[in-house]
Amino acid sequence: MTQPILFSFFGHASIAQMAQQMGSFAVGQYQIRNFPDGETYLRIQSNVVGRSIVIIAGLNFPNDKLLTLLFAAETLRDLGAKDIGLVAPYLAYMRQDKQFNTGEGITSKYFAALLSKYFNWLVTIDPHLHRWHSLNDIYQIPTLILHAENEIAKWIAQNITHPLLIGPDQESEQWVLRIAQKLNSPFIILNKVRKGDQLVEVSIPEIKRYKDHTPILIDDIISTAKTMIAAVKHLNELHAQPPICIGVHAIFAGNAYEELINAGAKQVVTCNTIEHSSNAIDLSLAIIEGFRTFLAN
Ligand code: R5P
Repeated sequence: MTQPILFSFFGHASIAQMAQQMGSFAVGQYQIRNFPDGETYLRIQSNVVGRSIVIIAGLNFPNDKLLTLLFAAETLRDLGAKDIGLVAPYLAYMRQDKQFNTGEGITSKYFAALLSKYFNWLVTIDPHLHRWHSLNDIYQIPTLILHAENEIAKWIAQNITHPLLIGPDQESEQWVLRIAQKLNSPFIILNKVRKGDQLVEVSIPEIKRYKDHTPILIDDIISTAKTMIAAVKHLNELHAQPPICIGVHAIFAGNAYEELINAGAKQVVTCNTIEHSSNAIDLSLAIIEGFRTFLAN
C-alpha cells in the first residue's frame, strides 16, 4: 500500500517529522515564495498521484495563510491526489458564532463552508464551540475533535502540588471541570463581562478558602490575553499566590504574552497547537493518532 503524504504549512514541521519517524507517512516536499507583487508561487515537489494527503497547518492569524492553503489543496488535487485531509490543531474563526450586532457576518459559518469545499476531512483540537454545539453544525465534511485535557492534567499533576483550577468565564467550565475531575482538585469558574475586544472584567468568588493552593487559570484561547490579565490582576488584589496561566491555543496578539507576564502571572504554559515559546504541553502524539483514524483504510 502506498503511504499517505503529510505536508506541513505554517509551522508544525516537527509533528510531520514525528509522524514520518513513527512509520506509515511520507513527508511532502514543496516550494513556496512570493512573486515581487506579493502573489504566491507554489510548487509541489512530491509525486502525489493516487495518494492520500494530509495537510497540517498552523492557522493562527489565518487571513495571511488561507489563500496559500486553498491553492495547495487545489494544486494537490490537480496533480492527482486521491483525497486531502486538513489537520488544523488551532481552528480559526470559531468565535464569531452569531450576529452580535445588526449587519455582522457569522464568519465561523463562512470559514467552515470554504474549508469544506477544499478538504475531505478535518481534525482539530478543542475548537471554540460555544453557540455552535458541534462542528457538524457548520462543517459539511467529517470532523474529529481532539482534546488537550489529558495532557494539561498530566502537566499540572507533574508540576503543581495543590492546584486550584480557575476558569476565567462560563465557557471555560466545560474543560476546567473535566481537568479538575481528573486531578480530583477544587475549581472555581469566574464571571466575565467583555466590554470590547480589549476590555474585560472578571469577578472571583470564594478565593480565601484556597490560600494554600496555587491558582491555575485555564482557558482555551489566549489572544489579547485581556481575559487572563483581568483574572491575574483580580487575584493579585485578593492577595492570592501568583497564578499559573494555561492556554490551549497560544495566539498572543501583539504584545499579549509580555503583558500577561508583566501583569503578574507566575508562569504561562500552552499546548503546541500553535507554535510559541510558551509551549510546554506536547500534543503531537495525540494529533498523529487522531488523523491516522482517517487513513486506516
Ligand atoms: C472566549 O470566550 C475564549 O474562551 C477566551 O476566553 C477568549 O478568546 C480569550 O480572549 P482574550 O485573550 O482576547 O481575552
